[in-house]
Amino acid sequence: MDRFVDLRSDTVTKPTPDMRQAMFEAAVGDDVFGEDPTVNTLQEKAARLLGKEAALFVASGTMANQLSIKAHTQPGDEVIIEAGAHAMNFEGGAGAVISGIQFLGIPGNRGIFEAVQVEAAIRVDDVHFPPSRLVVIENTHNRGGGSVFPMSKVRPIRELATQRGLRMHMDGARLWNACVASGISPAKYAEPFDSVSVCLSKALGCPVGSLVVGSKDFIKRVHRFRKMVGGGMRQAGFLAAAGIYALDHHIDRLEEDHRKAKKLAAGLANIKNVLINPAEVETNILFFDVSRAEKTAQEVAASCREKGVRLHPTAKTRIRCVTHLDVSFADIDQALKVIEGVMKG
Ligand SMILES: Cc1ncc(COP(=O)(O)O)c(C=O)c1O
Repeated sequence: MDRFVDLRSDTVTKPTPDMRQAMFEAAVGDDVFGEDPTVNTLQEKAARLLGKEAALFVASGTMANQLSIKAHTQPGDEVIIEAGAHAMNFEGGAGAVISGIQFLGIPGNRGIFEAVQVEAAIRVDDVHFPPSRLVVIENTHNRGGGSVFPMSKVRPIRELATQRGLRMHMDGARLWNACVASGISPAKYAEPFDSVSVCLSKALGCPVGSLVVGSKDFIKRVHRFRKMVGGGMRQAGFLAAAGIYALDHHIDRLEEDHRKAKKLAAGLANIKNVLINPAEVETNILFFDVSRAEKTAQEVAASCREKGVRLHPTAKTRIRCVTHLDVSFADIDQALKVIEGVMKG
């Protein structure tokens, strides 16, 4: 099979010819000495875009989240987070190992939670309990199906956090999608947070890279921890150049990925034994359920793969699809045809 329609994740994209050219032409230096002009430009650009004092380029979304958590906490602290969040469930237990913190997972509705839930989760000052230190919000929420965390719900959480002396971090791996879907600017979304991590290698199509933004003092701490975990890179400007290109050219086009996801959801809703609510699809991620079929999600995905369509089963009856730069509207038609055939067979 020479070409797959790959809907497993928006991390599977390859750099476009123009992005490759920008990488090829990048001016570089030793970033551990702070001398890579392209890394410095990317960091300044990201800080400006997100309305914060400073930014740091890091290898991955996991590194961005976990170094932020480390910089906000002391060992023994508790971090309040939604129960399906990436930073708690899919980052290899790093919160415990790197920061010595424990997470308190609170239930969300498609990843979204309310200030009253945070209030109930904050520990009283008693030697039995870990000190509550940080609230983490994931926007958009991956396991929530690409859901956008509404600003109207962020604000009361911020007010509560300020009253109770808690800090706030946003896992904005796909903040760009939230901004395009809601019309809220990155700086406005970032404003209530002490720190934000954003990814360049997901929706934006870069080969590598994420950024952490925050105050100058906070970024200085994250920088120290990045060195500790071996995350200091040398001529990283080749990678940063892709990031600059993506911030300039690949944000507005996300609207198209959202339309592709909506088209896919509408088509899936018409396939027998597929359960999905297309009205819930807000950005580029959707989940569908196959519990009414005779097959497991793994079997459905395996049959689709044989016919050139890659899907990501995340549970026995649940499958994730993500649209991105490297799938076209025609690919969505093709995927629907294959999924329908597999569900019938
Ligand atoms: C919401 C979210 N946060 C963080 C990450 C981690 O990013 P990375 O794979 O670059 O470590 C991911 C990865 O899919 C994610 O979906």
